[in-house]
Amino acid sequence: MDEFLAFSHIGKTYPGVRALDDISFSVPKGTIHGLVGENGAGKSTLIRILSGDTEADDGEIRIDGDVQHFSSTRDAFAARVVVVHQELQLVASLTVAENLTLGRFPARAGVIDFRGMIAHVGAKLREIGISVDPKTPVSQLSLGERQMIEVAKAVMMDARVIALDEPTSSLSSRESEVLFDLIGRLKAQGKVVVYISHRLDEIFRLCDGCTVLRDGRLAAHHTSIDGLTRDMLVSEMVGRAIVDIWGWRGRSLGKPRLVVDQISGKHLPQPASFTARAGEIHGFFGLVGSGRSELMRLVYGADKRWGGRIDIDGVVLSGRDPKRSIRAGLVLCSEDRKYDGIIQGMSVTENIVVSARRHFSPFGVTRPAKETETAEKFIKTLRIRTPSARQDVVNLSGGNQQKVVLARWLAESDIRVLIVDEPTRGIDVGAKAEIYDLLYSLAERGIAIVVVSSELPEVMGISDRISVMCEGRIVASFERADFDEHTILAAALPDRSMTEPTRRAS
Ligand SMILES: Nc1ncnc2c1ncn2[C@@H]1O[C@H](COP(=O)(O)OP(=O)(O)OP(=O)(O)O)[C@@H](O)[C@H]1O
Ligand SMILES: [Mg+2]
Repeated sequence: MDEFLAFSHIGKTYPGVRALDDISFSVPKGTIHGLVGENGAGKSTLIRILSGDTEADDGEIRIDGDVQHFSSTRDAFAARVVVVHQELQLVASLTVAENLTLGRFPARAGVIDFRGMIAHVGAKLREIGISVDPKTPVSQLSLGERQMIEVAKAVMMDARVIALDEPTSSLSSRESEVLFDLIGRLKAQGKVVVYISHRLDEIFRLCDGCTVLRDGRLAAHHTSIDGLTRDMLVSEMVGRAIVDIWGWRGRSLGKPRLVVDQISGKHLPQPASFTARAGEIHGFFGLVGSGRSELMRLVYGADKRWGGRIDIDGVVLSGRDPKRSIRAGLVLCSEDRKYDGIIQGMSVTENIVVSARRHFSPFGVTRPAKETETAEKFIKTLRIRTPSARQDVVNLSGGNQQKVVLARWLAESDIRVLIVDEPTRGIDVGAKAEIYDLLYSLAERGIAIVVVSSELPEVMGISDRISVMCEGRIVASFERADFDEHTILAAALPDRSMTEPTRRAS
C-alpha cells in the first residue's frame, strides 16, 4: 500500500499536557485526508510538527519513504511541505504579491523586478481562481481573502504535502467553493492534502480517508470514508454518542426586552427593526455579507448609528457606545473573538473574569477565590481543555481560546440582552451541545438572546424565531412552528443568484 506521508509513533508533551501520544498513520498519494477531533485533541499540534514549527518529542515523519527532520518551517518548505495554520501568518503590512514571493523575489542584476513580480503573481492568482489585486496590502483584505492567499502560497510553492487547519472557518460559502475546487485540483495532481475541520459535512464531501484524534491519542483511522456515518465519527471524536445535539427546550416567552426601531448606519443604510423577548432565542440567518454582524454592531454601539431608537426593558438606550450598552445590560460577543478576543499574556481565569470583575470587586479589591470559582465553573461547563485555570491563554488550542472568550461574556451577571455572533464557529460538536444548553439556561433566566449564525441547521435547531437578512435588510421572519429549510434558504438568497451561474466552469 502506498504510504506517501507517514506519521510514526509521534509524541509531544507540553507542561501538564500530553498533546500527542504514539500517533501512527499514513496517507497515500493523490488523496485528501481528514483530521478531526474535539478542541484540544491535538490536531494543530500534529500539523505544526509536520510544518517544522514545533518539534516532536518522539517518533518520526516519512515522506515518500524518506525520514524527515524538520526543525524549522524553512526545512519543511525545502521538502515541499506547506501548512496553512489556523492562525494566519501573512505579513499584514506587505502586499499580496510580496507575501506570495517572500524571500524569493525575482531579481534582475540584483535589482528586484517589482513589475515582473506583480505580473507573475497576478497571473498565478487568476489561474487559481482568486480575484485579488496583487498590489493590495494584506491589511486591507478580508479574513476570507487572507485565507485564500495562504492557500495560494502553498500552490505557488508546488508543495507535495499541503495541510490546511480549519481553512473555511472564516470563508463565505462562495469562497469555500473556490477552495474546494482548488483542493480537488491538488488531489488530481497527486499531492497529499491533510484537511482539518470541525464541519463534518466538509469531511464527508472532500476526504478520501480520515483520522480521529481524542485526548492526544489515535481514536480511529479510516482509509476510506465510505460507509462511515456522521454519528459514528462523532462518537469516535467525543467518546460517547450525542443523540440530539440541539436539545431544544420550549420556554414561555415574556415581554420584549430589546426593541430595535428603524436603526441605520454607514454599513447598513436601510433602516432595520426587530425585537427580542424575555426568554426568547431570536436567530438571525443570512449569507456571509448579508449585514447581520453590521446590524448587531449598530445595536451594540460598536459602529456609529445614524438614526432610529433602541429600548431595553422599556428604557431608551441613550448612549451609542459599547460601554453604555453594557451598563444597560446589552452585550455583544462578536464573531471576531479568535482575533480580537483573547488577552495574551493573561491566564485563563483572568481572561474569563476580566469584565465580570467589577461585580465581584465593586470597591476595586480583587477577590481571587471568587474569580477562580467562576473560571472553574466555565472550564467545566464549556469543557475548556487546559491543564489549569492559571495557564496562559495563548497556550490553549484555537477552539478552547474561543470558549474562553465566550465564557467572559456569559460570566457577566447583569445581562438583559445577549447578542452572540457565530457562537460555535471553530468549536467541536461535544462543546457545541454544551453551549446550546447554556444558552437555553440563560433564556430560562429571562435573558433575551439574539444568535447570528451562518449555519442553517444550527439556527433552526436552537431558535424560537428566525429573521433572515439579505443584502443589508431583514427580508423575512419565521416562528418555530413554520421553520422550513428551503423557505428560509430561499429568503436568504438575493434574486439575481437565480440567474447567475454559481460555479465557474472548470
Ligand atoms: N504552546 C503550547 N503550550 C502548552 N500547551 C499547548 C501548546 N500548544 C498546544 N497545547 C495544548 O496541547 C493540546 C492540543 O492542542 P491543539 O492545538 O493541537 O488542539 P486542536 O486539536 O488543534 O484543537 P482545536 O480544535 O481547538 O483547534 C491542548 O490541550 C493545548 O492546550
Ligand atoms: Mg487547532
